[in-house]
Amino acid sequence: MIRMESVTKRYPDGTVAVDRLSLEIPDRSITVLVGPSGCGKTTTLRMINRMVEPTEGTILLDGADLQQQPVTTLRRSMGYVIQNAGLFQHRTIIDNIATVPRMIGWGKQKSRERAAELMERVGLDASLGKRYPYQLSGGQQQRVGVARALAADPPVLLMDEPFSAVDPVVRKGLQDELLRIQEELGKTIVFVTHDIDEAIKLGTMVAVMRTGGRLAQFAPPAELLSNPADDFVEDFLGADRGIRRLSFFPSAGLELTSDRVVGVDATTEQLAAPDAPYLLVTDAEGRPLGWAEPRDLTAGDIAVEGLLSYGRPFVPGTDSLRAALDCAVLSPTGWAVAVDADGRVAGVVSQQTIGEAIRTAHGAGDTGDAQADDAPRAESAGVTKVGP
Ligand SMILES: Nc1ncnc2c1ncn2[C@@H]1O[C@H](COP(=O)(O)OP(=O)(O)OP(=O)(O)O)[C@@H](O)[C@H]1O
Ligand SMILES: [Mg+2]
Repeated sequence: MIRMESVTKRYPDGTVAVDRLSLEIPDRSITVLVGPSGCGKTTTLRMINRMVEPTEGTILLDGADLQQQPVTTLRRSMGYVIQNAGLFQHRTIIDNIATVPRMIGWGKQKSRERAAELMERVGLDASLGKRYPYQLSGGQQQRVGVARALAADPPVLLMDEPFSAVDPVVRKGLQDELLRIQEELGKTIVFVTHDIDEAIKLGTMVAVMRTGGRLAQFAPPAELLSNPADDFVEDFLGADRGIRRLSFFPSAGLELTSDRVVGVDATTEQLAAPDAPYLLVTDAEGRPLGWAEPRDLTAGDIAVEGLLSYGRPFVPGTDSLRAALDCAVLSPTGWAVAVDADGRVAGVVSQQTIGEAIRTAHGAGDTGDAQADDAPRAESAGVTKVGP
């Protein structure tokens, strides 16, 4: 949809902010521009809505040269979100969001209805509509910024470090919200950040830029992690590249065993049968209670308080291999507990089995069906919990 062909921006003082950049920004997905400060991210974004005009090269929108399109029409087809939201301080939240609809001639009532609908969509309580921006938290203001950009339903959303000013917890919420909105509305989003974890989490495609406005690599996140183009990209990706890449592999294929799992009402025979150093005890509904050595278990008299913690379970099919590995690492027995959506034990799996699955996945060289819609998405840290 948006195509940049060898685009260069040289500012009047001679600074080359963007140097012969060629990018094909896919439709209806999130493309992230990431790179160190001053590498030309904002300049690139602003050339897309013609707030900055390129010195050389061409930018095409749906095959037509941007230069041929009136700036006003162009801007209306592209919502723009910036850090700290850039709200009008003297207007209420509702009126902030209704700005563009009003501008393009919608009636007051219709514009406000639209604004109220968008507040709900971005997770803002309707009661906030009458407030002024200073009466909102930073995260709430950022949501208003997103709602305002979406107000006239533009096919394209340009976002320049929209979540940089909020704390990590709020930021994660905003990122999840953006992914959900993107899924529901199918916008084409160009998102600028200097945070590689944010880029990996949000991007369908990620453009890594380097100082001097040059493109270092343009690839899906899983490919960046597996095949960084050069030392610059590898350094920029940071540590734990291998572990982080596991976020893109599903845990669904892991082979689970259930012969180490016993109910809290297990009989003496059941407790004696398994040839295992540890058994996972479940409650009457099949939910995990904890691990124990078989010799410490007495039929009819299993003390729940005496059990070892089972750590944090994972959900095969929803969680990634990274999440499964994390569970195994956190488990006192080295075995991860798999549960279904209702929290009932589906089986257990050893670190060794997970290790073999990891080797197979890495060996396969790509993320296979992890590219599918229901596949895990990367998380910037901790256990990946994906899906509804
Ligand atoms: N109006 C301007 N005149 C001259 N140079 C400029 C102008 N705007 C930006 N630059 C320079 O162009 C380069 C790229 O700037 P740009 O704002 O695009 O970087 P950025 O990647 O968005 O950086 P940051 O992560 O800090 O926001 C920088 O060296 C900057 O100093
Ligand atoms: Mg910038």
